[in-house]
Amino acid sequence: MTITPSEVSTKLDLAFVRSQFPALAQTVNDQPAVFLDGPGGTQVSERVIQAISDYLRQSNANTHGAYRTSRRTDAMLEEARTAMADFLGCDGDEIVFGANMTSLTYAISRAIGRELGPGNEILVTHLDHDANVSPWRQLEETGATVRFADIREEDCTLDMNDLARKVSGHTRLVAVGYASNAVGTINPVKEVVQLAHAAGALAYIDAVHYAPHGPIDVRALDCDFLVCSTYKFFGPHMGVLYGKREHLKRLKAYRLRANSDESPWRWEWGTLNHECIAGITACVEYLAELGGRVDPAAQTRRKALLAAFAAIQAYERDLAGRLVRGLLEIRGLEFYGIRELQRFGERCPTVAVRIAGHSPLELATRLGDRGFFTWDGNYFALNLSERLDVEKDGGFLRIGLVHYNTAEEVDRLLAALREIVG
Ligand SMILES: Cc1ncc(COP(=O)(O)O)c(C=O)c1O
Repeated sequence: MTITPSEVSTKLDLAFVRSQFPALAQTVNDQPAVFLDGPGGTQVSERVIQAISDYLRQSNANTHGAYRTSRRTDAMLEEARTAMADFLGCDGDEIVFGANMTSLTYAISRAIGRELGPGNEILVTHLDHDANVSPWRQLEETGATVRFADIREEDCTLDMNDLARKVSGHTRLVAVGYASNAVGTINPVKEVVQLAHAAGALAYIDAVHYAPHGPIDVRALDCDFLVCSTYKFFGPHMGVLYGKREHLKRLKAYRLRANSDESPWRWEWGTLNHECIAGITACVEYLAELGGRVDPAAQTRRKALLAAFAAIQAYERDLAGRLVRGLLEIRGLEFYGIRELQRFGERCPTVAVRIAGHSPLELATRLGDRGFFTWDGNYFALNLSERLDVEKDGGFLRIGLVHYNTAEEVDRLLAALREIVG
């Protein structure tokens, strides 16, 4: 069965979704807690909590031992690799686990840096989280040059002309975010990958912000690396990297002598966080179950995940429309990013605003007291807050929706903001 967009928006079973996340039942000062902090980290489903505790009860051990719990651990790790391979559209041996996106990016950037020198260039962007900028900038110590692709200020999108101009035969790597964790813009990453490859450069995609909002297909993107963090898409605090098999094998990893030199293990340092990795499989299973409810005919986990994201995207677009429409009516509010409903395919439901006369910290604090969890500041999208010159004034107020948020929550947030602003 093929699902049409109009069918899917009504297919997200919100009652089922909300029943899966025990944290959503919290209250603050007798008000229901409203989790609008997804871009900083999402809540986890009951089955993730269960998988973590089950692992600790029944399988807790180090790897490669000649006994039952260790063998269970080995099997669990391979299951999680397969789950993430289904999530990203690749094979299990192209999946690397790490503490978070930042440490994985340092591991890969250090290895790539071994091959760089004067005359080589790396291209990063002003729209990116610092975790996809600083690890590359620090490679200037090799003599390589780091260049920045600019943004179009009016809608906080990547200036693709500027980016294309800055990719040349000197470029060895282009590092770009799939979506901005500050203003929600989704970048044309496939086009960026093509530009990078045409110049003989590698493409490194930071999909941390995009991952809870849309389907990822690393083969279709043809990117060389793509990295994400499971705690941003309803899983535990971990990072996951996809690397093309040929790169994971060829690049020289920094590793202990005792560590396997086989890929992907050569990229995984020390003992991993096994209980969290057990939670990753459960997190992918939750999304697959959601997809199975949307499209009962989905026969593989990958297909179920694609059905889940079709429903999530349609639902989130409606919700973001409601939020943005309401925000734009608030007096003195400055909105950063894409605001036209017809362009919502180019953005995630993550919005950044400033309101005249109120610092982002004041707004976040007053909202927090009323049970609304939002963020203030730069959330490490430092290059953007500097580029837009809001860093010195406390950055932005960020409101981040995910599929467990509701229209009623959006309406209550808007009412609270109107009351605070007066
Ligand atoms: C877009 C983006 N990239 C990278 C990161 C860094 O991720 P991690 O905390 O897993 O290192 C974040 C975290 O907020 C992010 O939002």
